[in-house]
This record gives sequence, C-alpha cells and structure tokens, in this order.
Amino acid sequence: MASSETVCCICALFFGGIFCTLIWTVTAKHTFQIDYENNCFKKDGESFRYISGSIHYSRVPRYYWKDRILKMYMLGLNAVHTYVPWNFHEVMPKKFVFDGDKDLEHFLQLANSTGLLVILRPGPFIDAEWDMGGLPAWILKKSNVVLRSSDPDYLAAVDQWMNVLLPKIRPFLYNNGGPIISLQLEDEYGSYFACDYDYLRHLVKLFRYHLGDEVILFSTDASSIHAVKCGTVDGLYATVDFGPTENITACFEVQRHFEPKGPLVNSELYTGWLDHWGEKHQVVATSIVTKALDTVLGLGANVNLYMLIGGTDFGYWNGANTPYAAQPTSYDYDAPLSEAGDLTDKYFAIRDVIRKLSALSEMLDVMCPSGPVKSVYPLNFVQLNQYFGFVLYRTSLPKDCSNPTSLSSPLNGVHDRAYITVDGVPQGVLERDKVLSINITGKAKATLDILVENQGRISVGRYINECKGLITNLTLGKDFLTGWTMYPLDIDEAVSRGLKEKSRKPSMSSRSSAFTAPAFYIGSFDIPSGIPDLPQDTFINFPDWAKGQIWINGFNLGRYWPARGPQITLYVPRHILSTSAPNNITVLELEKSPCDVKPCVVEFVDTPVLNATVSNIFPGRKLFVGLY
Ligand SMILES: *[C@@H]1O[C@H](CO)[C@@H](O)[C@H](O)[C@H]1NC(C)=O
Ligand SMILES: *[C@@H]1O[C@H](CO)[C@@H](O)[C@H](O)[C@H]1NC(C)=O
Ligand SMILES: *[C@@H]1O[C@H](CO)[C@@H](O)[C@H](O)[C@H]1NC(C)=O
Ligand SMILES: *[C@@H]1O[C@H](CO)[C@@H](O)[C@H](O)[C@H]1NC(C)=O
Ligand SMILES: *[C@@H]1O[C@H](CO)[C@@H](O)[C@H](O)[C@H]1NC(C)=O
Ligand SMILES: *[C@@H]1O[C@H](CO)[C@@H](O)[C@H](O)[C@H]1NC(C)=O
Repeated sequence: MASSETVCCICALFFGGIFCTLIWTVTAKHTFQIDYENNCFKKDGESFRYISGSIHYSRVPRYYWKDRILKMYMLGLNAVHTYVPWNFHEVMPKKFVFDGDKDLEHFLQLANSTGLLVILRPGPFIDAEWDMGGLPAWILKKSNVVLRSSDPDYLAAVDQWMNVLLPKIRPFLYNNGGPIISLQLEDEYGSYFACDYDYLRHLVKLFRYHLGDEVILFSTDASSIHAVKCGTVDGLYATVDFGPTENITACFEVQRHFEPKGPLVNSELYTGWLDHWGEKHQVVATSIVTKALDTVLGLGANVNLYMLIGGTDFGYWNGANTPYAAQPTSYDYDAPLSEAGDLTDKYFAIRDVIRKLSALSEMLDVMCPSGPVKSVYPLNFVQLNQYFGFVLYRTSLPKDCSNPTSLSSPLNGVHDRAYITVDGVPQGVLERDKVLSINITGKAKATLDILVENQGRISVGRYINECKGLITNLTLGKDFLTGWTMYPLDIDEAVSRGLKEKSRKPSMSSRSSAFTAPAFYIGSFDIPSGIPDLPQDTFINFPDWAKGQIWINGFNLGRYWPARGPQITLYVPRHILSTSAPNNITVLELEKSPCDVKPCVVEFVDTPVLNATVSNIFPGRKLFVGLY
C-alpha cells in the first residue's frame, strides 16, 4: 500500500480532470463482415445483429425525411432499408435527377447523422409495387429487349445507370466511414422466369468494380428452395423474406439450405400488406406481427420490417400486379408509422418487443459463448459447469400477471441474490434468507429473466458444500415455474475482450423507480504520462450506484455495495492503471443505476471508506446511505 502522501498526490491529479465520466466507447475501425463461425454479422470486429425497417425515400417528401428517420430510431431500430428506383432518377436516357425529393445522398446523410445504418437496395429492378419495378419505361424503345437478363441492350442501360449511381454510393459505405453496411442486388430474382445467372454475375462484377471487395452484397428471395435457386450466385449472400404467418423455422431452413453458416436474415417481414384499386383494404393484426418479430429475434436472426413507413405513391409512381390490378396512391401498408407519419399502436407494440432485447440480455451472445442450457426445472451452477459469478435463468410467464402476482422461493432456494425483469422491465430482487417473495406484473408469455448472483461460498462449517443458483423451484402464484433456458455467463472473458456499446444505451424503462434492469456501463479515463510516481494506488467511490461488479482494464476489482455498507469504496492497485492508453472501466450495475437521472460517474478518492453506517434497507425503500 502506498504511503498516504503519494495517495494524496494521485487524487489531487485525478481531481484535476476528475470524475471519470462514463463515456460510451467509440470504435475507430470501420469494418462490416459476415461471421460464418458465429452465424452473425461482425461490425468493427464485434458480433452484430440488425433490426431495421423499410422506408422508401421516393414515397416520403424530403421535408419529412428527418422526422420519419428519427421516429424509426426512437422505435429502437439500428438500420433502415431503402430501395433506389432507377426510373425516379434517370428520367430520360442519361438525364439524371438527384435533387430535392430525389436527393439520395441527403437521405443517406440524415440516416447517418441520426445513428442508423443503411441497407441499400439499388436494384436495378426493385419491384416495390413501384411503376415497372423501378425500371425506366424508355428502355422499351428497344422493342425486343429482355428485361432483367444479360440482353446486351438491357445491360448497356444498366451499366450506364450504375456508372452514375454507384460512385455516389461509394463514400457512404461503412468501410468508408458511412452508414451503408450491405447492398441487395436485384429483387426476388429467383421468382422471375429468366433465371439468368450470367446477368447476376454481371451485376456482381459491376458492383465490385465500383464499390470494392469489402462490402457485403446479398440477394433476397421468397422463402422456398425453388425461389432462391434462380435468385442467387456465388458472391451474393442469400437471404429470404416471409410474412408473419409463415412457419418461421421452415423459412429459415430454406436460407440454411443455401447458406449453411452465417447470419439468418429475413429481409422483409411484412408488417401489413399492399392494396389494389377495387379490393378490400389490407390490414395485419399487431399481435401477429409482434409474435413473429419476437420469434425471429429469439432465433438471433436479423430482420427488416417491411414497411416501417409505407408512404405515398405521389404522381404516377404506383405499380400493378397481374392479372392486371393497379395499386392505389396510398402505400400506407398498415405499417407501424402511418402514411402521414403518425405513431400507431403497432409502432408501440413493436417498440416493446425490441426493448426486451435491451440491457444485459442483448449481450447474451457475447456473454454466453457456450450457448444456453434448457431444462424443465432449474439447474444449479455446478450442473451448468459455472462456478462463479452469474447465471441468467429465463422462462416465460405461464399466465397473465397484469395484477401483481407473487414470485416466490418458498424453500429459500435463491443462492444468493436474484435480479428480476419481465420483458426487460425491472421488478425487484429476491435475496437468500431476506426476501423470499416479490410481486411482479407482466402479460402471459412475457419473458421472465432472473439473473442469479453467487455472492461467495460458505467457507467454514457444516454447510461448506452448498450449491449456488436456483437450487429449488420458484413459484408464480401457486404454480411451479418450468421450462427454463439458462445462460451461464462468462462476463470476465467478455469484459477482457472489450465490451462494445451494442447499438444504443440500454433503455431505462422502469415501472418501479426503485430498480433499473441489470446493465453494463462503459467508460474511460486518461492518466497523464510523464509525471513521476503516477499512477498510484487509489480508491473508487460509487455515488448513487447501488450494487454490482466493476472492472478496470479487464481486472475484476470485486463487488461494490454502497447501498448496504459498511464498505463504500473499493481499493484500486496502481499496477492495473495505464498512462499510455485510456483506462477502461466497466460497471455491471445490478439494482439501480444513477445514469438516467444523475451524472453517470464513478469517482476516485484518496481515502477509503470502509465504515459507513450499515443500511438494512430492502427493496422498495430508499436505497442510499450518506457517503460524505
Ligand atoms: C457519418 O457519421 C459519422 C459519425 O457521426 C461521421 O464521422 C461520418 O463522417 C459520417 N459519414 C458520412 C458519409 O456522412
Ligand atoms: C414448421 O416447420 C418445421 C420445420 O420444417 C416443422 O418441423 C414444424 O412441424 C412446422 N410447424 C408447423 C406448425 O407446421
Ligand atoms: C403483493 O400484492 C398483494 C396484493 O396486492 C399484497 O397483498 C402483498 O402484500 C404484496 N406482497 C408483497 C411482497 O409486496
Ligand atoms: C422442482 O420440482 C420438481 C417436481 O416436484 C422436482 O422433480 C424437482 O426436483 C424440483 N427441482 C428443484 C431444483 O428443486
Ligand atoms: C482500453 O480499451 C481500448 C479499446 O479497446 C484499448 O485500445 C486500450 O488499450 C485499453 N486500455 C488499456 C489500458 O488496456
Ligand atoms: C468512519 O471512520 C472515519 C475515520 O476514522 C470517521 O471519521 C467516521 O466518523 C467513521 N464513520 C462512521 C459512520 O463510523
């Protein structure tokens, strides 16, 4: 332990720059790839899953682009899908329009500055219930032209267009610092009669020529073997699309037939449906959409909600289907944002589904590389090959608990503390010997997450052989809870590999202000180099934090629990601190974070506090003891 003099010295310096404000980490290197080993995408080296929504900029006035994009961001999406209609831009051969409502680059900039990634679908054919599927009608002047094939006249027109479009796109690629993570070539090509692989190969070559080798190019087809067969070639990652009433397992099996490894992707999960003049208006019930979304996300798949906002076929832009039936002017699509951009019940219901993924559970794929274990009754830590730390026990509510319903451990089998959320909403804490029952609320089938902490094994006496985890059944009301999925968490490994902000700050939605859902908070601080005797030992203080675990530069400093006391500060030995690189702090707060209402900081102090008044507080009451 350093002398009190040197400890003072370091703290004085820390107070110069002082509190370590927890800043969300920003990654410098821009890469976006397919991770075939882990069946996901990889963004800046970290596993990544997108939840995106379709907006066609050609169906929304530029005046409203920012508003609609912001509403998509607020929904919890991390990407937008958009088509580029060729005929919207090349209005006559070689006459290109990219201004006003056709200013694609401005649209991409808005998405980027809002923090949304972009999945671009530049065709050349797009369908989209858009006039001629986006192909320009002037192309038919060559009367024998075979559209969407390697017909030389058709290809010449495609090349002429792409030679203008793709150079505009290039600066917006993710690896060039922009938002575009992938591009779809053609659209459901496998459902077209031509089945011309040379045409698809020509497109791949053309796109690679302009955009380089790094960006992901993909195809999208209806989810049947027959449809995908003619829709994809080497060099395109095959994805599928399907509606919410399809057999989702079977649909993804089709994708797996063509892509045995890599991320599962539904490029169009239909939130509603299209209309025709003279036919009944199409609607799809919200519950059908949210159920499908929940299932797709539960499989770890990537998904695009088609449409998120449908918009309007202003002017003459509507398409038609065969036998001839033209689409009306409104492309409302019964989408979560109405044609006029209003938030609907569907919007809020989808937001709730996405929110469920926030906080700890969003990171499960990183935290639980071994994958979950399923069992009717709960297994304990040893049975799960987990010896320290945390296991997440997950099941769903077997019945409606809109009225507060007791979640209990009648045999005192929570070893030792359990942090409980329902659909991501914090409910409270069960604690060995102290709190054996709490009331929870939630709808039937809502996800019940119980993060169980091993607080340390008995080290002397008859009970040194105790088990950790849920060692007896829990009850909800009068019934045993069953059907558990258990995630043994290797948090230390994930922290030392460097947790990245997933997509956004965890949502702090909380019915009960006494708790926040368990979540990680990441920040960094610098220690100036070149000053003799720095760094030195110090102590870390947790203003307004409640209970959790903290790591600095991957070193697990231990548990903090100022809400209980008597220890308030944790000892930080100097050898883990660095003057040559930013020091990384990871806080796993289990009960109540200050970050939604107060400064999100921890603090370095020169004097340890090991003797605070002990607080015998329990859930529901004020959580804090005086620190100063
Ligand atoms: C996208 O946004 C990032 C961060 O806000 C910025 O650094 C980058 O220059 C933007 N890229 C484009 C192409 O606008
Ligand atoms: C869905 O498809 C899977 C895989 O093909 C099949 O095992 C399952 O029985 C199907 N479910 C229904 C409800 O048809
Ligand atoms: C749970 O709710 C019931 C009914 O509202 C109430 O009587 C009971 O005291 C509550 N139990 C706890 C542990 O809060
Ligand atoms: C849970 O209850 C079932 C049925 O009574 C029993 O077989 C099982 O051993 C119990 N599990 C635990 C962990 O207590
Ligand atoms: C903190 O994390 C960053 C980014 O991962 C890394 O470059 C840096 O070396 C880390 N700092 C220390 C002291 O390990
Ligand atoms: C803790 O110890 C400090 C220093 O010895 C003392 O000033 C303080 O009064 C003590 N606090 C309590 C709550 O006992």
